[in-house]
Amino acid sequence: MNATYKILKEDCLEWLNNYQEENIHLTFVDPPFRQGKDYRLFDDNLPEEEYWDWLKEVLSKVYKITVEGGALYFMQREKNTENVLRLLRETGWTFQNLIIWKKKTSAVPSEIRYSKQYQIIAFATKSRKPEVFNKLRIDLPIPPEYKNERPNGVYITDVWGDIRELTSGYFAGDEAIRDGKGDRFHTQQSPIALLLRIILSSSKQGDIVLDPFSGTGTTLIVAHQLKRNSIGIEIDSENVKIIENRLNNLRCADDIMKYYNYYRYSPNLKDIWPAEKTPLAEQRRLF
Ligand SMILES: C[S@@+](CC[C@H](N)C(=O)[O-])C[C@H]1O[C@@H](n2cnc3c(N)ncnc32)[C@H](O)[C@@H]1O
Repeated sequence: MNATYKILKEDCLEWLNNYQEENIHLTFVDPPFRQGKDYRLFDDNLPEEEYWDWLKEVLSKVYKITVEGGALYFMQREKNTENVLRLLRETGWTFQNLIIWKKKTSAVPSEIRYSKQYQIIAFATKSRKPEVFNKLRIDLPIPPEYKNERPNGVYITDVWGDIRELTSGYFAGDEAIRDGKGDRFHTQQSPIALLLRIILSSSKQGDIVLDPFSGTGTTLIVAHQLKRNSIGIEIDSENVKIIENRLNNLRCADDIMKYYNYYRYSPNLKDIWPAEKTPLAEQRRLF
């Protein structure tokens, strides 16, 4: 089975307005965070109410085109949790988990509160029960105070502390796409490991995965390797070029096989992860 992908240079709301099917199985929503970031093509400083109304429209339209039991992962800053949960409720989604994506980089200290070290990813479904939910096991190293090894790894919980964000420093390594000067091309690029977990957990081969804010195309890169069909919308043509190039020339840094061993204890891994190559000998730890 070969997966297809479509990359569209468009405003996602316009695309959502025109899409007539109800066949999307999984959507990853990673919008601009209204942080005044220097995006080329849109205002990242929308007034608060306007911003949440806009995202509400996006979530509501994604809901309409999603299959029964289909999944949504909505990434946001932790300080916006209240609005995230409100939007899900008001647009019909069934809330399943508030995933805490714990960052590795040290947090900026605050004078008045604890420093912030995580981002939230709300996981929700259309109707009460997900159509697909693959329980994944990972080979997480045991904490120093544990006496016994875990022979079969552990199930993933709603706290994800093992996936490194792509920061500006050397930690971003080869995975961050860089310009001629070595600077990151897109400061919001999501890690491959994050999309791998989401797509493996909430879809099966042949499903359609949607990313309305594709950025550098991380969702499409992972979906394609996992043989899920994908649709990516991105408003900025420079980003669209990067996505096309990334899909046409798979870089070592984007190869998901380096994570295969880490997930080897998952019960149905062979069915959900079509591995044509042998897993890389070097086991890539996520932590
Ligand atoms: C936070 S970034 C997504 C990063 C992405 N997850 C990745 O791995 O690269 C948000 C992206 O949404 C795009 N964007 C903003 N408004 C949009 C809109 N109305 N329709 C489509 N894309 C939009 C921006 O150009 C930006 O690349």
